[in-house]
Amino acid sequence: MQTLTVGLGERSYPIHIGSGLLDQASLLQHAVPKKRAAIVTNTTVAPLYLERLQLTLQSIGVSSVTVILPDGEIYKNSDTLNLIYDALLTNRCERSTPLIALGGGVIGDMTGFVAATYLRGVPFIQIPTTLLSQVDSSVGGKTGINHPLGKNMIGAFYQPQLVLADTDTLNTLPDNELASGLAEVIKYGLIRDLPFLEWLELNMDKLLARDTAALQYAIARSCQNKAEVVAADERETGERALLNLGHTFGHAIESGMGFGNWLHGEGVAAGTVMAADLSQRLGWISAQDVSRIRTLFERARLPVEAPDLGVEKYLDLMGLDKKVEGGKMRFVLLKQVGRAVVQGDVPEKLLRQTLEIAKPEP
Ligand code: NAD
Ligand code: GLY
Repeated sequence: MQTLTVGLGERSYPIHIGSGLLDQASLLQHAVPKKRAAIVTNTTVAPLYLERLQLTLQSIGVSSVTVILPDGEIYKNSDTLNLIYDALLTNRCERSTPLIALGGGVIGDMTGFVAATYLRGVPFIQIPTTLLSQVDSSVGGKTGINHPLGKNMIGAFYQPQLVLADTDTLNTLPDNELASGLAEVIKYGLIRDLPFLEWLELNMDKLLARDTAALQYAIARSCQNKAEVVAADERETGERALLNLGHTFGHAIESGMGFGNWLHGEGVAAGTVMAADLSQRLGWISAQDVSRIRTLFERARLPVEAPDLGVEKYLDLMGLDKKVEGGKMRFVLLKQVGRAVVQGDVPEKLLRQTLEIAKPEP
């Protein structure tokens, strides 16, 4: 097992990464000091891992209330939040009852938002079971839900007390979900860790074959990158925005195509290729760099062509991005491969040219 720390002073917390962690009660003991916890999961993950977690909690004398939600990005909304609040209130969960998110990023983001708001805040534990949630969403305290007008528009910064990433859970993950997580892994290399990008270029086939050592290395290195950024800029007043490379375009794709039709990582992959294209139009990176980026996403079995929503629709959806300041869009772009920046004044003509590369669906 590897343990990293997100350094946030008194709110610092560990990220444990390794095989078989779901059965290790000692890792949970400190974060679950009382006799009850509430586990939030979904109809896909519950049959796979809920009983194991319950048994682990029982072994330290903790009983659990369970909330099993419908599965899917389309349920990441206020109606589903209410199902969680209802269950917690019905079962008289108290301020000291920790909420445990068992699942991917959708479960983690919603459970975290409930933890931030139920009784004005209860302890929160992340047990991520997808690659995407193990490398990104479970770390850093961004929680929330979608709004019909835009992705992740309602939420709160609320840090967990513990992240427990059992890499064995990835064995049951569908291939397209594994690929979706790889998009966020590649992101760290592109924005701030060129040696990691080079490692990914050498080891992509091992990752796709689910080689345990390669996956653990990629998860730990991704979490290390994320932990450093979050420790430096928890509330995204600066550097943290770089973690959104490809997301302005990607969120527009996810929302414009209807939540759930493009996986988050798929939107990020095609969105990052658009960000790379725009960076090239600004004269910052070369055509070879763009092609290098496309190739790596393609090797990870991710889409590199954005769907043709129409330029005006893209502009409309991107206008709702959380990075918009004073009504002006800001983009995360690549000064070099391995170094991202946030750029405010992108000439509209270049942006439109990038949006025009979107291809109609086959
Ligand atoms: P997800 O939560 O929808 O999980 C993907 C699918 O895999 C679901 O069907 C889920 O039930 C299933 N699943 C989960 N674990 C499994 C397992 N071990 N075996 C088999 N199936 C399993 O999607 P995701 O990719 O984990 O997360 C995407 C979400 O995360 C998006 O809503 C995105 O906005 C959010 N996100 C948040 C942050 C953040 O910082 N908070 C960062 C990135 C993404
Ligand atoms: N996934 C982007 C962030 O956590 O800031």
